[in-house]
Amino acid sequence: MPANLATLEGSPTYHRDVAPILERRCIKCHHEGGIGPFALTDYEQARAMAPVITVETGARRMPPWGAHDTHECVPPLPWREDERMSDEEIMTLRRWDLGGAPEGDSKDSPPADLVSTQSLELDATAIDIAPRAAYLPTSSSLDEFRCFVFDAPEIESGAHISAIHVVPGNRRIVHHVTVFTDRSGALAKRAGPDGSFDCPPGSLDRALPGEEVAPQNATILAWAPGGKPLRLPDGVAIEIAPKSKIVMEVHYSTGARSIEPDLTRLQFSLAATKPKYLVGVWGVGNFGSPLENGDGLQPGENDRDGVVEFRIPAQAESHAETMVATFTHGGALPLFGLRPHAHLAGVEIKVDVLRNGATQCMLQDSWDFHWQRIYTYEAAPEHLPMLYPGDRVRIRCSYNNTMMNRRLAQELRERGLRPMDIFGGPDTLSEMCLADLLLLVKTPE
Ligand code: HEC
Repeated sequence: MPANLATLEGSPTYHRDVAPILERRCIKCHHEGGIGPFALTDYEQARAMAPVITVETGARRMPPWGAHDTHECVPPLPWREDERMSDEEIMTLRRWDLGGAPEGDSKDSPPADLVSTQSLELDATAIDIAPRAAYLPTSSSLDEFRCFVFDAPEIESGAHISAIHVVPGNRRIVHHVTVFTDRSGALAKRAGPDGSFDCPPGSLDRALPGEEVAPQNATILAWAPGGKPLRLPDGVAIEIAPKSKIVMEVHYSTGARSIEPDLTRLQFSLAATKPKYLVGVWGVGNFGSPLENGDGLQPGENDRDGVVEFRIPAQAESHAETMVATFTHGGALPLFGLRPHAHLAGVEIKVDVLRNGATQCMLQDSWDFHWQRIYTYEAAPEHLPMLYPGDRVRIRCSYNNTMMNRRLAQELRERGLRPMDIFGGPDTLSEMCLADLLLLVKTPE
């Protein structure tokens, strides 16, 4: 360290300079009982972690936030709830560490009301619903898909949801959660006495043998580890049609871990007035082959014998799959946000809109399976970017299929495996390349 850095400029102190940054940026997760692995709420804790804090914030791994501006991608608008720290904040933490992490005078500490109370859950007025009983995954399978049908009298006659959040029960085994509505009520009939049923991929969109009514699904939220509550701006809501059932699909990935029970809950808030816009979700990607019109899976560098395939070769340090889909809706719609998705081998997801030979990058996400979120633009609905009929949406997903990829490596080690070719599919060790586009549709009069 440059020994005189601290003395020259005067080292930042914990109470005056560092505590306010930690309170703003970190302690909503790093408090006693929070989702961060340690608390950063007092001087001793922060001092002990100072060198690691410097490394993690300097590399912009903490606070977790994947949407970055790069030479390839400058999104059209700023992001809502952007977690990125300023260079100045990062430098202050670094100078504090290099200066010996002094405590300073507690009289300099910010007034108590600055202390962050921002929670990762919705507030006390939210409706909180849970499955009838905790669920114990069966030991026989590594990937298990279980669906829970909720009894929610609050939405029986239809509702407009303004905020929604999945509260994971057992984070060690809950891999991913999808929440959707079923208008026909067909799925409720599949549930046993505990309100749940097995729902392997593909079983939810069609009637099973012996069923008279087919499910009518609409996804309202997908959650994965790190997912924050989805709070919609004023005038925007998710519509629940009358008599719909809310169904939560939980993907358990027990791996080699012990089998433990889980009780994952759902929270939501209802809009106080009739919203101007409803959120519609258009899922793009996960193609297994090219389509005739040029959409679908695009040719890639590791295709074999001229056959276009979704395959990430074992030991490929950098491999990309690209997907294209044309927007064919009857009219233009504002694009409100994006939810990129891949699995453990994924390291980056980029979404572009192609129109008249021009390309606009909408999002470039340094993908981390543990920190999935929905990115929404900070703008009034009338100022959002529009998606026009004929626009082509292109998604490029990059993967690292080596033991250098720490998320993948951890899972492979737990299962006693080495990197192998990865194909498209729903299981934890297969891959996806997907983006849900959140579009705003005017509420019918
Ligand atoms: C949204 C919740 C959240 C926020 C905000 C957050 N952290 Fe973390 N942090 C975590 C979790 C969870 C981990 C455990 C590792 C992981 O899952 O990536 C972690 C890990 C860490 C680690 C250890 C990394 C390692 O692998 O050794 C450090 C250091 C850290 N955080 C510092 C910070 C600092 C400093 C801030 C604020 C500038 C911050 N975090 C903000 C949740 C958070």
